Amino acid sequence: MKYDVKNFKLAEGGKKRIEWAYHDMPVLQQVYEKFAKNKPLKGKRMSACLHVTAETANLARVLKAGGADIVLVASNPLSTQDDVAAALVKYYGVPTYAVCGENKDSYYKHLHIALKHKPVVTMDDGADLISLLHTKYISWAKSVLASMEETTTGVIRLKSLERENRLLLPVVAVNDAKTKNMFDNRYGTGQSTIDGIIRATDILLAGKTVVVAGYGWCGRGFAMRARGMGAKVVVTEIDKIKALEAAMDGFNVMPMIDAARIGDLFCTLTGNMSILRKEHFRVMKNGAFVCNSGHFDVEIDIPALKKMSNKVIKNVRNFVDEYRVGKKSIYVLGEGRLINLAAAEGHPASVMDMSFATQALATEFAVKNYKKLENKVYNVPDKIENDVARLKLQSMGITIDTLTKEQKKYLESWNIGT
Ligand code: ADE
Repeated sequence: MKYDVKNFKLAEGGKKRIEWAYHDMPVLQQVYEKFAKNKPLKGKRMSACLHVTAETANLARVLKAGGADIVLVASNPLSTQDDVAAALVKYYGVPTYAVCGENKDSYYKHLHIALKHKPVVTMDDGADLISLLHTKYISWAKSVLASMEETTTGVIRLKSLERENRLLLPVVAVNDAKTKNMFDNRYGTGQSTIDGIIRATDILLAGKTVVVAGYGWCGRGFAMRARGMGAKVVVTEIDKIKALEAAMDGFNVMPMIDAARIGDLFCTLTGNMSILRKEHFRVMKNGAFVCNSGHFDVEIDIPALKKMSNKVIKNVRNFVDEYRVGKKSIYVLGEGRLINLAAAEGHPASVMDMSFATQALATEFAVKNYKKLENKVYNVPDKIENDVARLKLQSMGITIDTLTKEQKKYLESWNIGT
């Protein structure tokens, strides 16, 4: 088996971590049993470009148990857990190409390896494989039955391809499933972003002014958790409804140029570029921390910060670079890449359980139904969402009410009045 991982000797530790995560993934465990029995992906060549974490390793095991011939590559140069990558190769037979800290060349070399595998199903976290399929591998794109997309940024790109009538294969927007974004994006990002910031800086959040850029599911989750730690939270938005929601959730809402003057810590979670830029750095306080928890490393304009700095001191602490602008220092965490995966371990297994059970079941759906699918972006079927929610509730020991016959009739009627 071919692979590219940092150090095989780390495999033992990686296996322990994968097993630890698996305990907290009860829904995925049930999907594993079903896939091992029914082999819904039998013989299907698959390439997955995901954050190579313990949770992803468990997803890869499930897909392999379902019969997929799977290759795994990283979806971010800083998020790979090297011990997990080694264990995937050594103990679970998954060809893995991922090295934490790899440069752009190595990152893209791995993406090319994933596509040279000639996958008939692809899985992305950020649309990198799909992007290549629509540029350098167009001739292979028509052989791909379907592709899954894990994240908001990826879905935005796919919808843009669809709008331009250029989408060459059917895609399932796993990110848009409620069983994914309401939980993973909100509670997962909320907790793991706080975790990453604390691991990187060890600062006390209580009493700090924390500026949250973007009030989508990720921003909501992070703002909620930052408030829980005692921070004074400011939200910046461009969307009127979301801004209103943030205001009525009790947060201070203002333009970034005003927030930039008062913030102690800034976190971008928008999916857009240049959220923090020159004019903001110029007015920031001495000692301000800036980080990003959106998909790509474009939300903080680091090149602009570098240009206006008289000195850059790398690694003043792990995951912290100091930029001296005049007499003040601005600290950039995790090189502006996803701080929750760069400095911490990403979302906890319990929430990835729902995202990855949804991924696996969406893959089964797409493989079963590809002949009926057009080159469009599809939502995850309601049945899958309901199954995942039901199994998660079950695993948490929670039971809920059901409609009585009368209630059902009432809801279906239009003429039962006062
Ligand atoms: N995205 C965010 N957290 C993750 C995790 N733990 N594993 C894979 N992808 C993630």
